[in-house]
Amino acid sequence: MRATATIYAFISCLLLSIAASAEPLAGLENALQNDARATADKARDAGRKPAAVLAFLGISEGMSVIDIWAAGGYYTEVLSLAVGTTGKVYAQNPKRILEFRDGANDKALSKRLAHNRLVNVIRVDKAFPDLGLLPASVDAAVTALNFHDVYNASGREKTIAFAESVFALLKPGGVLGVIDHEGSADQDNSALHRMQSRQAFATLEAAGFEIGGTSEMLRNPKDGLHQRVFAPDVRGKTSRFVIRAIKPAN
Ligand SMILES: C[S@@+](CC[C@H](N)C(=O)[O-])C[C@H]1O[C@@H](n2cnc3c(N)ncnc32)[C@H](O)[C@@H]1O
Repeated sequence: MRATATIYAFISCLLLSIAASAEPLAGLENALQNDARATADKARDAGRKPAAVLAFLGISEGMSVIDIWAAGGYYTEVLSLAVGTTGKVYAQNPKRILEFRDGANDKALSKRLAHNRLVNVIRVDKAFPDLGLLPASVDAAVTALNFHDVYNASGREKTIAFAESVFALLKPGGVLGVIDHEGSADQDNSALHRMQSRQAFATLEAAGFEIGGTSEMLRNPKDGLHQRVFAPDVRGKTSRFVIRAIKPAN
């Protein structure tokens, strides 16, 4: 009896570790090299490992996904390639992100989407919680390098409310992927544009999410977590956490 339980426990652990593995999606790795993708985006891939991140998050063809605070749309295009023409990507930005620095993000996103080059992308130029999308209608959400902005500018309670509106948008069993610059307990993370992963976990759990897994794939031990993320030493290669948060199925 005990031997059977041990074998079951072993198999469960094995399956969990397989589910949590992050082999890059082979098809996506190839798609990311397509000639129509900007050289500047390709240059960012080494630090962002998008095919491995999306594999870890379980994003696949045919899904309906939302890129939260898409800004210029680096991840919007990656998601567009990942979900394919049978899927759908909402590129969401509040007004202030679009207006930032003379509309730089608005211009970059408009250029990216010009001439209908990403046919499965729909712009959502609206702020949470009123995006005009149906509740429980989206398979997955991704927020890359922006959760700290919400947390540092608005505080814990408003960030929980923000996460709750993402929760409402997701289908039961849906995934929210949070990628961000790791912070440190003894630093002013707001000034550094970072946040501690433990604060992200707590915020997500308070909004009703379960933590399905975290990945170390974007960790950089050379980042001492005390510099601004824009400092030349760490820019593009900060130590980052990747969280797969799940909306419970019921
Ligand atoms: C590191 S980028 C990440 C953008 C996008 N999610 C991605 O993965 O490429 C952060 C963006 O957030 C925007 N941003 C952050 N805080 C902002 C604020 N308070 N007002 C306006 N824009 C802000 C900046 O425009 C910047 O483009």
